[in-house]
Amino acid sequence: MTTDYDPIAEQYKRSKQQPWRTFVESFTLMDLVGDPSGLAVLDVACGEGFYTRMIRQRGAAQVTGVDLSQGMIDLARQQEAQYQLGIDYVVADARELGDVARYDLTVAAYLLNYASTRDELQSMCDGIARSLKPGGRFVTVNCHPGQHFPDAPSYRKYGFETTVTSDWREGAPIKWTFYLDDGPFNIENYYLSVATHEEAFRKAGFRQVNWHSPRLSPDGLRGREPEYWATLLERSPVTFIESVK
Ligand SMILES: C[S@@+](CC[C@H](N)C(=O)[O-])C[C@H]1O[C@@H](n2cnc3c(N)ncnc32)[C@H](O)[C@@H]1O
Repeated sequence: MTTDYDPIAEQYKRSKQQPWRTFVESFTLMDLVGDPSGLAVLDVACGEGFYTRMIRQRGAAQVTGVDLSQGMIDLARQQEAQYQLGIDYVVADARELGDVARYDLTVAAYLLNYASTRDELQSMCDGIARSLKPGGRFVTVNCHPGQHFPDAPSYRKYGFETTVTSDWREGAPIKWTFYLDDGPFNIENYYLSVATHEEAFRKAGFRQVNWHSPRLSPDGLRGREPEYWATLLERSPVTFIESVK
């Protein structure tokens, strides 16, 4: 599993400013999160805390962010020092989460697409399920396992591209290139099928696995025609899952 975010932590943080992140990714994810008032929330693969802060600011009672990358956690803690939201950030591996049944809601934005094997995906789902109280919810956004990435359209106008150079099979790498003002940077995800995801969720103890398509915030139409968003919404490279333990 290639997940070294330390060298690209700052660039990844800036990629979250791209309009599609706000008007599609954040809008849909927060819609699925709902009102977190009073909840204990765990943000797994929290990165520099983009969604961790958002969920706390929306009223969650207690929020913890965990990530494998020290560089990402350093950036998250710098922002915690600045904004003082009362969030705990911890360097930890999603596959080895030890906080048993403590959380009402666990969120993980772009974690599961780092599993390159069925076993890795299972370990992640097991760790997430362990973190939740019975009846707790898991909400996630990921690289879309139902998208046939070798035939993916260009997403360049949104500020990124996806590329597949090997055979399309379980574990195949998908390269994402993000274009920022000072140049591009790459990250690598892995393909595992929809069926493999559903099996991993069920084995981990999730009762329902609900897949959701991305949705567009009405604010995304200010100054942009609906046609602008068509490729992103109709051939979406990302998907959202909501599940209950
Ligand atoms: C694409 S970033 C997403 C960060 C954040 N969730 C966001 O949406 O801004 C993926 C993050 O997953 C983290 N990650 C990958 N594998 C992990 C694992 N096994 N346990 C915890 N974090 C992991 C990486 O370090 C990286 O920060």
